[in-house]
Amino acid sequence: MCGIVGYVGFRPARDILLHGLERLEYRGYDSAGYALQYNNSLVIRKCVGRVTDLAAMDPGEGARATAGIAHTRWATHGEPSTENAHPHTDSSGRIALVHNGIIENYKSLKDRLKARGEVFVSETDTEVLTKLIGLELEAGGNLLSAVKRALSGVRGAYGIAVVSADEPSTLVAARYGSPLVVGIGEGENIVASDVAAIVAHTRDVVYLEEGELVEITTRAVHSHGSDPRMIRERMTHVDWNLSEIEKDGFAHYMLKEIHSQPESLRNAFRGRLDMSEGTAHLGGLNMTPERMKQIRRIIITACGTSWHAALIGKYILESMARIPVDVEYASEFRYRDPVIGEDTVALVVSQSGETADTLAALRLARRKGASCYGIVNVVGSTIARETDAGVYIHAGPEIGVASTKAFTSQVMILSLIGLALGRARGTVSRSEGIALANAIQEVPDKVETILGRAGEIKDLAREFTYASNFLYLGRGVNYPVALEGALKLKEISYIHAEGYPAAEMKHGPIALIDDLMPVAVIAVRDAAYDKIVSNIQEVKARKGRILAVATEGDSDIRHHAQWVIEVPEVADQLTPLLTVVPLQLLAYYVAVARGCDIDKPRNLAKSVTVE
Ligand code: G6P
Repeated sequence: MCGIVGYVGFRPARDILLHGLERLEYRGYDSAGYALQYNNSLVIRKCVGRVTDLAAMDPGEGARATAGIAHTRWATHGEPSTENAHPHTDSSGRIALVHNGIIENYKSLKDRLKARGEVFVSETDTEVLTKLIGLELEAGGNLLSAVKRALSGVRGAYGIAVVSADEPSTLVAARYGSPLVVGIGEGENIVASDVAAIVAHTRDVVYLEEGELVEITTRAVHSHGSDPRMIRERMTHVDWNLSEIEKDGFAHYMLKEIHSQPESLRNAFRGRLDMSEGTAHLGGLNMTPERMKQIRRIIITACGTSWHAALIGKYILESMARIPVDVEYASEFRYRDPVIGEDTVALVVSQSGETADTLAALRLARRKGASCYGIVNVVGSTIARETDAGVYIHAGPEIGVASTKAFTSQVMILSLIGLALGRARGTVSRSEGIALANAIQEVPDKVETILGRAGEIKDLAREFTYASNFLYLGRGVNYPVALEGALKLKEISYIHAEGYPAAEMKHGPIALIDDLMPVAVIAVRDAAYDKIVSNIQEVKARKGRILAVATEGDSDIRHHAQWVIEVPEVADQLTPLLTVVPLQLLAYYVAVARGCDIDKPRNLAKSVTVE
């Protein structure tokens, strides 16, 4: 995710900002920049690449500045480029702003500003906000009041820091949905999106509250937000070490990423749901309702965990949009001579956007005339660039090699695509669409509920530390979740695990079941419930030990399964977004108990750029 640092004090601001950005590098970024306030003007430098590239740029007089703001950008709107890098300026060039988050209504604001003659140099939502602040400032008042007025017109999430050439040694910062923390020093203050950028200077910090707006000078921090209490009264002391801070106090990135799923899922659907029409608007797809009606066939291609998300996509798209969907391993697809016509749509799913086989599959599908759409996390990655259009999943950087939050966000995006296609094609009614859109909005809170049971799953994981084989079973839309649960366990604990469609078990894996074989069964109360209970009986009859992932309040399942992990009830199509979470946690805690290297499992790479 993007990173923000702002400093005001008596020391050279540039050094402190650059050092702060270095501390935020672990979050992932593609470009960087700063704005220094010096002698009633702003010195701005930006570049695509690393913080060291930014440090190599000559700051001129800016080297003497004692106040400024800086940013590392993880692209969301517009690819990584110098123009899109932050800080952005208003049309006078006298205010500069850095921003984390997404302004949802940026498009309509931008159209309005363009009509008033504003010229935009970037594709970002951030520049729109900067221009708005500039116009407010022209209308009167100081920077603080201009920021306040401008923010009242935006929707979405933001953490921002702003400087003006005309108000020396003053920063204005605000947060809504994107964290900001202020480090309190003696004669200096520092604001950042993450304490990691602050702790080298001070460990006394104040976390800004939701909706809070502050003015930061060398001597004071004034709050003009929801909590006007003296800021010093809210000061807390950070005593974590740096690596703990980068992981937000979690022992591993994977665990942090599992726990960040409520937020990453919200980011996936933020600004994309139309609650009154019961549909989804996916601007990046660039597809008219007429085009949506013409699609005859969809091929989804991907590798690894993304392939599992794709398989869930098949169930969702077929049931909602009534379009036949084939899911292909990219590595197989690319070496066949697949039958593809111009009425075929190829969806390419990739977290990194760089997987070699997936990229080759995309190029083949394009050559054969398919329209190609990406479902990608990393903005500006090769797959994102080479597809005709697409949807970013906005999961933020995923560092743990075993994919977790990217998977759930991919499934969320496929659900939004299913909803949009279903509504356009008339296979989902308005009332069904509204019900589904509401259900989607409730998913993050339900994931939060499951995460609240992590302690239970941790205790349970001890039972399985010594297992050498594991079977995962599911049906329908939860069959791919069984595959994903097994993959997670294999990847990080090195226990052999297989995922299977529950009924297919009779045709082979049942031979392996004995009293030493744990069998995880996804047995939520959906259309397949009765069938899966029969499959559980088959396992039980062979003395298999059953761990069921079941719907909250299902007391019957406890008669059949030795262990039960409950997940909240949700619309059938959305169950994978919940059922996978306990399986991620189970794999994690089993691997921890076995002493494995969670974030860097042996032999695996985060991004496989060779075939
Ligand atoms: C590697 C990673 C997996 C990932 C797969 C596909 O194997 O370890 O976690 O699912 O590549 O990667 P992509 O970036 O294309 O989703």
